[in-house]
Amino acid sequence: MSERLRPMRLADLDAVLELEEQLFAPDTWTRAMYRDELSRTDSRSYLVAEDGDRVVGYAGLIAYDDEAHVATIGVAEDRQGEGIGARLLDALLAEADRRSPVVLLEVRADNQVAQELYRRRGFTEVGRRPRYYQPSGTDAVVMKREKL
Ligand SMILES: CC(C)(COP(=O)(O)OP(=O)(O)OC[C@H]1O[C@@H](n2cnc3c(N)ncnc32)[C@H](O)[C@@H]1OP(=O)(O)O)[C@@H](O)C(=O)NCCC(=O)NCCS
Repeated sequence: MSERLRPMRLADLDAVLELEEQLFAPDTWTRAMYRDELSRTDSRSYLVAEDGDRVVGYAGLIAYDDEAHVATIGVAEDRQGEGIGARLLDALLAEADRRSPVVLLEVRADNQVAQELYRRRGFTEVGRRPRYYQPSGTDAVVMKREKL
């Protein structure tokens, strides 16, 4: 496995925004949103997976004392299915377990691959949010994982 995980930096944002467009259009986060997230170092933990000098994946956690939240996770289309997403998620969950008793996330209702990945990591469905993703209007499934 040649890619390594490290904290996301402002200098990664060009690469991250390119992946964001590839993976999440039209419901993409903007550069301003990422800059804001990266500035909140007390509660945010954003990682990239890097292979050589290429960012091939990224993920982010928002963690408070009572609750953590998987904010995003994505792997370049040509590198999916290699275990990178699982490694990013495991790193976020290890951080979440240090900080919060429970982790929540939203996932697109039509995204079976991601839902399965979360289920295998102990998440269960606890609700739905109609038209959560904008501007597409896609529904979200809310999933929750209690610390073991
Ligand atoms: C969801 C995502 C992050 C997973 O990352 P990944 O690197 O492809 O996933 P991994 O290779 O670590 O595989 C994770 C699991 O999903 C399974 N999987 C991966 N791609 C799959 C596919 N196309 N079909 C079925 N299963 C698949 C793997 O077998 C693996 O299962 P395991 O945990 O039992 O071994 C990635 O597919 C992605 O970026 N998707 C688009 C963006 C997205 O949907 N993000 C999640 C938003 S909530």
